[in-house]
Amino acid sequence: MKTVINSIATHLPSKVVTNDDLSDTLDTSHEWIFTRTGIERRHLVSDGEFASDLGIIAAKKAIEQADFDPAKLEAIIVSTTTADRHFPSCGARIQGEIGATKAFAFDVGAACAGFIYSLAIADSLIKGSNLNNILLVCCETLSRFVDWTDRSTCVLFGDGAGALLLQSSEDDHQGLIATKLYTDGSKEKHDSILAHSGPQNGHRGYTTMKGRSVFKYAIEYMDQSVSEILTENNMTFDDIDWIIPHQANRRILESLCKMKNFPTEKMIITTNEHANTSSASIPLAMGYGIENGKIKRGHTILLTALGAGLVWGSAILRY
Ligand code: UT7
Repeated sequence: MKTVINSIATHLPSKVVTNDDLSDTLDTSHEWIFTRTGIERRHLVSDGEFASDLGIIAAKKAIEQADFDPAKLEAIIVSTTTADRHFPSCGARIQGEIGATKAFAFDVGAACAGFIYSLAIADSLIKGSNLNNILLVCCETLSRFVDWTDRSTCVLFGDGAGALLLQSSEDDHQGLIATKLYTDGSKEKHDSILAHSGPQNGHRGYTTMKGRSVFKYAIEYMDQSVSEILTENNMTFDDIDWIIPHQANRRILESLCKMKNFPTEKMIITTNEHANTSSASIPLAMGYGIENGKIKRGHTILLTALGAGLVWGSAILRY
């Protein structure tokens, strides 16, 4: 039994903010942001627009694309680190809005690695619990969780959502091949490198990051995780058509390609357009790669991500 992607759809909020726009109110510049990160612009939610709103639109598009009856969904897994509220979950709201009357729904909090964690959970439900139809939604609004006067963090993030209809299949030539997940909470315990403060004095709080430390761990751990998953599955980079990494920083992604002697042209990079959208970044990049005719059915794709925790992991799938 395999977990296959029937459809994938994305949604970005309509408000676009360029680096130049940010430099109007912040001591920063397009030059600094672009050369350090590769980011040119980001989509941001407007007042009253929340993570689940983005997720609902992406979910409806994925269901429509597959011409699928949402009442046949058995589970909805929502990856978000920026949920509208502590409860109810974004999953419950999305379930209620899309007519998935028979699906159970819940949120997964694995920061920027949330898509890979959620894929692993969906695969377990399909293989271990005999589920056939699962909707996986990643919806993020990091812009609501940063301090817009802190130039070291706010310029890095964007908002967006992606949704995938995952189904069981007997076809061995398609679908998820493997996932590999890791967590190391000790880095955060000893030296807070990437964290959200939690609510403070009636405000929802802010994100802080020691950028250089996270940069170093991102390269080291994504490198380790892609090597291990390939070796464990008797594969090499020659078997991979596309790498789709978490889109935090173009320089991290180029370093990874260089270390692995993998052509950058075969990596999907959307950092320039979307900035860092946490767990939504891989589905957004995958959607972009498919829409632009790069990724085709039958292609083998390697996914990798690292986020706050630290949590990280990789996956291999045949689209
Ligand atoms: O999604 C989870 C994973 N996240 C990541 O992987 C992010 C990893 N880290 C990074 O992407 C990079 O470390 C950053 C883009 C966050 C920062 O780049 P950096 O090259 O590591 O810069 P830095 O933090 O060392 O800062 C260099 C200088 C500092 O000034 P001084 O102290 O050298 O005078 C900062 O104050 O750049 C300054 N700076 C800025 N200047 C203009 C920091 N932010 C800005 C800014 N505009 N927005």
